[in-house]
Amino acid sequence: MAYETLLIEHADGVALIRLNRPKALNALNSELLGELAAALAEIEADDSLGCVVLTGSDRAFAAGADIKEMSDKSYAQMFRMNFFAKAAQAIEGFRKPIIAAVAGYALGGGCELAMLCDFIIAGENAKFGQPEINLGVSPGIGGSQRLTRFVGKSKAMDMVLTARQMDAAEAERSGLVSRVVAVDKLVDEALSAARKIASLSPLAVMVNKEMVNQAYETTLSAGVLFERRLFHSLFAFDDQKEGMAAFIDKRPADFKGS
Ligand code: CAA
Repeated sequence: MAYETLLIEHADGVALIRLNRPKALNALNSELLGELAAALAEIEADDSLGCVVLTGSDRAFAAGADIKEMSDKSYAQMFRMNFFAKAAQAIEGFRKPIIAAVAGYALGGGCELAMLCDFIIAGENAKFGQPEINLGVSPGIGGSQRLTRFVGKSKAMDMVLTARQMDAAEAERSGLVSRVVAVDKLVDEALSAARKIASLSPLAVMVNKEMVNQAYETTLSAGVLFERRLFHSLFAFDDQKEGMAAFIDKRPADFKGS
C-alpha cells in the first residue's frame, strides 16, 4: 500500500518507517496516525519482517500532534473520534519490536510516540519534551504516565509543568533512551539493532517483549510468575531446541519461528 505521510523500506527482515511531513516537522495529524496504524497492521501480518525502526528527519522526529488540525475541535468531536486512541492502540498492541530512532524534536505527541515504541535510540541533537501546557492543554497519548515511569516524578513534573526540554545526554542519564549516537549514525545504529532482533526466534522475541511490558502492569511477584510460566512455555517451540543445539554444536542457529 502507498502512503502519503510515511516512507517505508524493507530489508533484511526489518521495516524502516520514516515519518514524512517535513514542512510540519512531522506533526502527527489524523492522516499520518491512520497510515501508521495501517502500516503496522501490514507489517504484523508479514512473517518476513521481524522488527520495525520508526524515525523522522534529522530536524524532527515529530514536533507533536498537529496543532492546526486540533485547534478548532470541540470536546464532542474529540470524544466522539476518541482522538489518538486508535493509533496508540495500534502501537500498544503491535507484537513485534519497534525501535524509535529519534533525532531533533520529539515534542508532545512526538515524545509520546517515541515512548510508545519498545526502546529509543537518540541522535545527539534529540530534544524531548511535553510542552502542551504552553497551549493550554496536556499530554494526550500517554505522556504523563509513560514519562513519569521512565524518568520519575520530579523530572516528569518539571517537563510537563514548565515545558522544559530534555537533551539527549539527560535523556540517556534519566533512562528515557537506551543509547545516544551521532545523528549521521542514528538510523544505521537502529537498523543494526533491528537486524539483530529480526535474526532471532520471532516467538522468543515476542515473548521477551511481552515479559518486559508486563513489568509496567503488575506486582513484582505476579510479574516474576508471568515470566517463569512464559519461560517454561518457550520449551514447546522448535526454536528453543534449535537455539540450544546450535550453541552446543558451535554453529549459528537457524530459527524457523516454529
Ligand atoms: N503542529 C502543527 N504544525 C507544527 C507543529 C505542530 N505540533 N510543530 C511545528 N509545526 C509547523 C509550524 O507551524 C511551521 O509551519 P509553517 O512553516 O507553515 O509556519 C513548521 O512546522 C516549522 O515550524 P517552526 O517554524 O515553528 O520551526 P522552529 O524551528 O522555529 O521551531 C519547534 C520548532 C520548537 C518544534 C516549534 O515548531 C514548536 O514549538 N512546535 C510545537 C511543539 C508543540 O507544542 N508540540 C505539542 C503539540 S500538542 C500535542 O502533542 C498534544 C498531545 O500530547 C497529543
